Formats: sequence, structure tokens, C-alpha cells
Amino acid sequence: MEIETQRYDVVVIGAGGAGLRAAIEARSRGLKTALVCKSLLGKAHTVMAEGGIAAAMRHVYEEDSWQVHFRDTMRGGKMLNNWRMAQLHAQEAPDRVYELEAWGALFDRTADGRILQRDFGGHRYARLAHVGDRTGLEMIRTLQQKAVASDIDVFMECKILRLLTDGDGQIAGAVGYWRPTGEPVLFVAKAIVLATGGAGKSWKYTSNSWECTGDGHAMALWAGANLIDMEFVQFHPTGMVWPLSVRGLLVTEGVRGDGGVLRNAEGKRFMFDYVAEMFRAETADSEEEADRWYTDHAGARRPPDLLPRDEVARAINAEVKAGRGSPHGGVFLDIASRRSPEYIRRRLPSMYHQFMELAGVDITKEPMEVGPTCHYFMGGVRVDPDTAATAVPGLFAAGEVAGGMHGSNRLGGNSLSDLLVFGRRAGAGASDYAEGRSQVGTVDRAEVDAIVEEAMAPFARSSGENPYALHSDLQETMQSLVGIIRTGSELDTAIEQLDVLRDRASRVAVDGPRRYNPAWNLATDLPAMLTVSRCVALAARERKESRGGHTRDDYPTADPQLGKVNFVLSQPGGDGWSAEIKVAPEPIPEMPADLRALLEESH
Ligand code: FUM
Repeated sequence: MEIETQRYDVVVIGAGGAGLRAAIEARSRGLKTALVCKSLLGKAHTVMAEGGIAAAMRHVYEEDSWQVHFRDTMRGGKMLNNWRMAQLHAQEAPDRVYELEAWGALFDRTADGRILQRDFGGHRYARLAHVGDRTGLEMIRTLQQKAVASDIDVFMECKILRLLTDGDGQIAGAVGYWRPTGEPVLFVAKAIVLATGGAGKSWKYTSNSWECTGDGHAMALWAGANLIDMEFVQFHPTGMVWPLSVRGLLVTEGVRGDGGVLRNAEGKRFMFDYVAEMFRAETADSEEEADRWYTDHAGARRPPDLLPRDEVARAINAEVKAGRGSPHGGVFLDIASRRSPEYIRRRLPSMYHQFMELAGVDITKEPMEVGPTCHYFMGGVRVDPDTAATAVPGLFAAGEVAGGMHGSNRLGGNSLSDLLVFGRRAGAGASDYAEGRSQVGTVDRAEVDAIVEEAMAPFARSSGENPYALHSDLQETMQSLVGIIRTGSELDTAIEQLDVLRDRASRVAVDGPRRYNPAWNLATDLPAMLTVSRCVALAARERKESRGGHTRDDYPTADPQLGKVNFVLSQPGGDGWSAEIKVAPEPIPEMPADLRALLEESH
């Protein structure tokens, strides 16, 4: 069979913030660069990081610095972060924001015209550069304009199925198909950057869009790269809970950053009951006092509504379980009683519109009903911090698909800055690699044909499993057994159920033409979703402690020994999504003394 073949120096898979920034970097080096995305350009999930880009630019607080940002990030990640990534991120984030500004991004401004920065959970100082609650959208718009002007070839609505390596194990290309026609396509490349985002679509309630099916995580594993920290999945505390059709849709942390507070069914600000004893002792017990701190921005004293996401999500979960939840199984997020309608509409226009249109709730007058929603993968492909190189020569990864940067829990706003810092670094790493290669690797045509044949197999079955039913069962399993609170026995059950689902997935059948066939498209997403879900469940079973985004009811405290290891997943000798996955602890890299000293400072 003839297959359309495209040849490039660098192919970037995924057109969110990291992919766009990587492609811009590679193209700026004069390399022939392709940007491939499953969706339409501009539709990437990056738009869901609404509240801002974290960077110590010191526009609101002079006292801020990269060192404090580094410390906040490490503390937020409960020290499992790759320290070098956290250091590079904190040091380079301000330059990446100024670069975005120079490329035309709009930001809200301080009175003297500098980029305004807002408060977010876990950040000691207000440091999120933002434009209302549409920061991710503005970032994508700006990068997209820059990419198009840079003469990057953009391939939209193209689903990549598998990566290809040559006889030496170097990256050689990728195989996929065009969603509009169903025809296969082969990309031959000297280097590939994965920027495919996360895998939240395996959970029932998620802020993630349909593209977030873990394609990059799975393809990297299948190609021989390692994954780390897969047990750490972030449940953003505030997703919509009603109406059911939009359950999980993100309600930006910017609502709390701008003064919103959480209340239970009794109207009580329950977060005060969940702050650590020490914090409580240092703080006053009245709501008025907490409000004053909020408006003062005084030092480390923060309203408990702005604790890191893992802590707030667990508290909401506990309130609902204790019968103090809202009518639809969440809690109340109230900004109406705390800010003027004009302020709310100016600062949070999307939230105003979202609740008005979808739930008939006027957030300038009434509280919102919110609850935790699967939002972000801290775990991902293990990369070299400086170059974003994976264990597969010629394969690079950046953004949510890469692991290590955020440890066990990501601070809000650190995602957009991560995309910019490591997107640029991955683009540079891939360019260096491609420039050092005189020719592309040899693609094995038989392998390409086998991949295409496997993708087309559901059409050849006259009867079999329905991909929608399978997806729904997968979401039930992950939501109920691998959610915010986990136990060893539930994880065992989840892994057994994933075995059954894997078996069922090998018998998926679809009919109709290949052109724009959503059932078939979903069928081709299932192998990655099942692989990534298995990685999460396996790593979660191994980590017998509670830390960050991983809470074990049967091991409720942090284990200092496990605070020294990452769990690393691999598929040794494995080829294909049904091969077994190995999980093993590895010591986290030792931190240099100067950085360690920053963490030991008391404030
Ligand atoms: O709440 C938010 O606006 C999300 C931001 C993020 O995940 O970084």
C-alpha cells in the first residue's frame, strides 16, 4: 500500500503551548519543522489554564525572586520534583513571559503599566501574569500567530498512532492518519518532540478536552522511554458539578485568587478546619481576620482557600462525604458576597459567562457549586532537564506529557510557564540533535504497515466491543477506584478491571466510512488510554504512602523513605500496548547544597 510520506528535520506532535513554543524554537534555527495536532490549531487544552502564568517578575511584590518561586514549587510538589527542572523553570519563566509580551500577548496591567500578577494557591507572592480568566487562550493565540508567521508547516486533524525507531534505536518517524479522510500518513524525521498534554479523559469528571487521551505518554513508553511519577494525578478542587452534562468543566483558581471563598452547606468556611495545627495557631480564628490578610497579602499568611490544590481537593471531598456538601455533590464557591459585580465581571468574564449560560447562575449574586475534577498529570515521560531528551535518542518531550517538574503536586499557574520554558528547551534540544544527524533513520515499511493494519482492524470485525461502552467503563473504573482517595485493595481491583478492558479493547468493532468517524477515532485512542491508566494504577499501588496528588487511605501519612524515590515505569523488551509494564523505585537525584539551603529557609 502506498502511504503519503512527509519528511522533516523536526516534527512536533501536539500544538498546545509546549508544542507551539518548541516548533517556534526549531524553526528559528532554520530547521524544516512540522507541527502536527489531533485537533484544530488554537483548540489545544492549554486554554484551560485560565488564571495565569507563574513567573517571579516582581511587579506586585518586590520581594519575590526565582529562589522563592523555586522553593514554593518544590514545597508544593512535596520535594519529589526534579530540582533542576524546578530551578530552570523558576529562573527562566520571567523571560518567557516578556517574550510573549513582545510577540503581542495582552495582559492585565498594574497602575503604572506593567504586567499585573495575581494570587494563586501555594505561591508566596502574587506572581501570575494574566489576562482576566483567559490567559491560556491568549497564550495560544500569541504563539499560534508567531508560529504561522515563522513558516512552520501545520498539519491539523492528524492522529499519530505510533513512533518509529531505526535499527540503532534512534527515532525515525511517526505513523498516523488524517481524521477527515481516515487515510494513513507517515512522518519521517530526524527528531521528534512530544507535546501531547495529559490523559484526563480516562476519568469520568475531568476538565480535560477530548484530545487528552495520553497519546504521548503511551507512545513514548511503547518506543522505549521511561515514565515517572504516574501515580500523581491532580484533581483541581473546583470544577462545575451541575448541570451533569458539563460536570468537571474548570472553574479557575483565579476565583479564589481574586477573593472567592469556599463554604459548605452550613455556610461555613470549612477550609479553616483543614489547615495544619501550626498554621491555625499562627492565624486568628475569625473570618474577618482572614479577609484582612487576604487584602493585605501579608507574608506567608494566606487564606486557607488558597492552600495547594491537593489539600483543597481533599478537604472538599471530606466535606461532601460528611454530608455537608451542596445539593449536587460539591461545595459552594462564593465571590458574590466578597467582590462587587463590576469587579467580578471585569476580572472573571469567562466564569461569569460560563455559569450564566450553562447553569443559569449569576455569580455576581449567587455562589457557584463546585467539586474536584481530574485536571493534570504530574507524571510523564522522564526527560533530561536541560535538553528535554528522553531515553530514546532523537525523542524529546515537553509540557504536561513530561514528568518531573512538578513532583507530587503542581502549583496552579506553573503549567503555562512550564510549557514556555521547556517547550523552548525541547525545541532547542531537538534542533541540536537534528543538526548533528546527516540523514534520517531508516523506516521499516513492514512495521508501518502493521501499525496501519492494527488501526484499521475494528472495521474488519462484523461484531465486537463498542468503543463508547469501553471508554465509559474505563472512566467508571478510574473515577471510582483510582480517584482522589485510594486503597491497596481498590487498586488491585482496578488493575484486574484494566486487564479485562484491555482484552475487550482487542475486540473493538466499528462500522461506517473512515472519514470523520468518531467511533473509530475513539477506538484508536483506547490503547493509549488503557496503557496510561494501567501505569497510574500500578505506580499508585507501589507508592504506599500519602503525598501530594496521591492519597492512600491505607497509608495516610507521608513516608520519609518514599520521599526519596520516584517510581519509574518501563516496558522492557515490550512492543505494543498489550505488553507488560514494569514499575521500580529509583532514588531522586541529589540536590546541590546551595539549592537545599533555599528550601531550609523558614519563610
Ligand atoms: O485554575 C486555573 O486557572 C488553572 C490553572 C492551571 O492549571 O495552571
